[in-house]
Amino acid sequence: MIYLDNAATSFAKPKEVVMAVCDAACRGCANPGRGGHSLSVSAGEVLYNTRGRIAELFNISDPERIAFCKNTTEALNFGIKGVMHNGGHIITTSMEHNSVIRPIKALGKQGVTHSILQADAAGNLDINRLEKMIRRDTRLIVMTHSSNVCGNIYDIEKAAQIARRNNVLFMVDAAQSAGTVQIDAQKVDLLAFPGHKGMLGPMGTGGLYVAEGVKIASIIEGGTGSVSESLTQPEFFPDILESGTQNVPAIAGLGAAAEFLLKEGVWAIRGHENELCKRFEDEIKNIENITIYGSGEKTAITAFNIVGADCVEVAQILNDRYGIATRAGLHCAYLAHKSLKTEEIGCVRASFGYFNTQKEVDYAADCLYKISKDLQI
Ligand SMILES: Cc1ncc(COP(=O)(O)O)c(C=O)c1O
Repeated sequence: MIYLDNAATSFAKPKEVVMAVCDAACRGCANPGRGGHSLSVSAGEVLYNTRGRIAELFNISDPERIAFCKNTTEALNFGIKGVMHNGGHIITTSMEHNSVIRPIKALGKQGVTHSILQADAAGNLDINRLEKMIRRDTRLIVMTHSSNVCGNIYDIEKAAQIARRNNVLFMVDAAQSAGTVQIDAQKVDLLAFPGHKGMLGPMGTGGLYVAEGVKIASIIEGGTGSVSESLTQPEFFPDILESGTQNVPAIAGLGAAAEFLLKEGVWAIRGHENELCKRFEDEIKNIENITIYGSGEKTAITAFNIVGADCVEVAQILNDRYGIATRAGLHCAYLAHKSLKTEEIGCVRASFGYFNTQKEVDYAADCLYKISKDLQI
């Protein structure tokens, strides 16, 4: 199988990650923070070490401000709902995954209002327009760093500056950028990231960074292992957001993944993935009737349609006949597809990872040529 669905979750994982998961599971992985015995303490060290590596990767000065979550969706829910529990107005964009839009819509039932910055048909966002959208009751701007549909990368630094000078919190969804685009968390108030995509860690991992001074409420309580004499949730980090037993083997894998990224270098990883993506696009752009979506600086995603062909059918043929995994449809991002004018037809998304090769890319492009010919007959 040639795996071109790395935007959903990365595969394969570095062998160091697999080894770390096995090692943690095999060495008698006890419950961290729930006892003073050696196995519990060493499980606590796994969490400590992983937090440290992630902090290094994102330039976070206090690793304790990182809470482990089971994925980006959970981190986004913790962040968005945790800072908006007193009501107010949120600004977001049309390029968001439903892991951003749905929590915002759910908050609407509690009176939280929102505005959406619309992207153009190439998936571009005019970040300057955010400033005009800020109201007196705006408390949060939340946006994706990179579109999961077309790969466009957005200027989060500019957005962060606008938020800061207007005294509004700024949260980034780094689902598509963490591990492949350099991120400086010092510039944001909240950062939601996956462990299992570009970070190359196991599924079931992710996290939320909350900057010093940002007031956040917990949305799940209990089971922290700390301050058992208290009947209410601790207010210190990371316990305020880390309720219940943590997935220590997976977090051990995430630590190894972060170590791998630090060793290889995020720029090197990005360079390789971009090269593959560009090569693929250069090879397929001459296919008759092909449309490629998105523009400008991108993560390694190619979103395309063969005009007249059903995107789901194209992806199915790629899988069934040629053993190539892509993702077709609306990619959990209806509004993004609406901006790209593909909400009725969806598109095929090929997403490249660090372990893909030029040979695989050439083969996939070749197969697409054949499919486009076959579908025209
Ligand atoms: C931009 C974006 N946000 C959020 C998510 C949700 O991520 P997770 O699967 O880690 O919950 C995804 C998943 O593809 C995504 O691409």
